[in-house]
Amino acid sequence: MSGIFDTHAHYDDEKFNEDRAALLSSLPSKGVELVMNCATNPGSIKSTLALAKEYDFIYAAIGFHPEDLIGLKLSDLETVKTLALQEPKVKAIGEIGLDYYWKEVPRETQLPFFETQIELAKALGLPVIVHDREAHEDTYALLRKHKPKGVLHCYSGSAESAKEILDNGMYIGIGGALTFKNAKKVLKVAEYVPLERILLETDAPYMAPVPCRGKRNDSSLIAHVAEKLAEIKGISTKEVIDTCNRNGRELFHIDK
Ligand code: NI
Repeated sequence: MSGIFDTHAHYDDEKFNEDRAALLSSLPSKGVELVMNCATNPGSIKSTLALAKEYDFIYAAIGFHPEDLIGLKLSDLETVKTLALQEPKVKAIGEIGLDYYWKEVPRETQLPFFETQIELAKALGLPVIVHDREAHEDTYALLRKHKPKGVLHCYSGSAESAKEILDNGMYIGIGGALTFKNAKKVLKVAEYVPLERILLETDAPYMAPVPCRGKRNDSSLIAHVAEKLAEIKGISTKEVIDTCNRNGRELFHIDK
C-alpha cells in the first residue's frame, strides 16, 4: 500500500533508540510517503528538527506537550517561534493541548501554555496539533475562542462534539484505537465524520492497531487503520489512504 501520510508520530522517542535509522530508512519501501513528527519539549524539538533535516519525507510539528511542562516558562516559547520562522520543514505547532488525566502538571499551568501556543500558531499562519485527554470542555472552549486551523489528534470525544470541531474547520485524527475491540465511540465518530476531514495517524511508538496491539507502533501499520476505515465507509483502502494523504497535505501546506 503506497501513499501513507502518518500525520502524528514521535520517532524521537527512546523506544526507537536501538534501530531508529534502520526503521526510518525502511518506511518508504513499506508504503509510507510522509510523516509529521510531533515534538513535545525543547529536547524533542531539537531531535525532531534533526530528523526532518535527515529524512526527506519527515516534517516537523514543534511545541510543548501538556505532560512536558515541568520546568518550562511561557517565555521559552520564544525559541519555538524563532525555529518555526527559521526552519522550512516546520509545518505545525504541536503537540499542544490539555491533559487532565496527567496530574503532575496543574491545570493552571497547562491552560496558559495551550492558549499561548494557539495564539502563536495563528500569528505564524500554522495549524495546531491538539492533544485532549479528559479535558474536552476546556479544550473546546479555547478552540472556540481562537478558531485555529488544525487537527484534534487521537480523537476521543463523541460524534456530537466532533460536529463542533468540524464546524470550526478542524480535522479529526484517527489511529490505532479504531481497530480496538472496545472502540464503539470512535467507530461512531468514523462513521459520522466525512473522509475529507479525517487524518490518519499512529502516535508511534504508542497505540499500535490490531493485530499488533501492545507492540511498538510505526507508520507502516497505518494500513490496518485505513483498512478498518475503508470497511466503515464502504470504499477501498487505497481511496482512504489517498484522500487522507491529500487532507494532510492541504492542512499542513505540503506540496512536495
Ligand atoms: Ni502524540
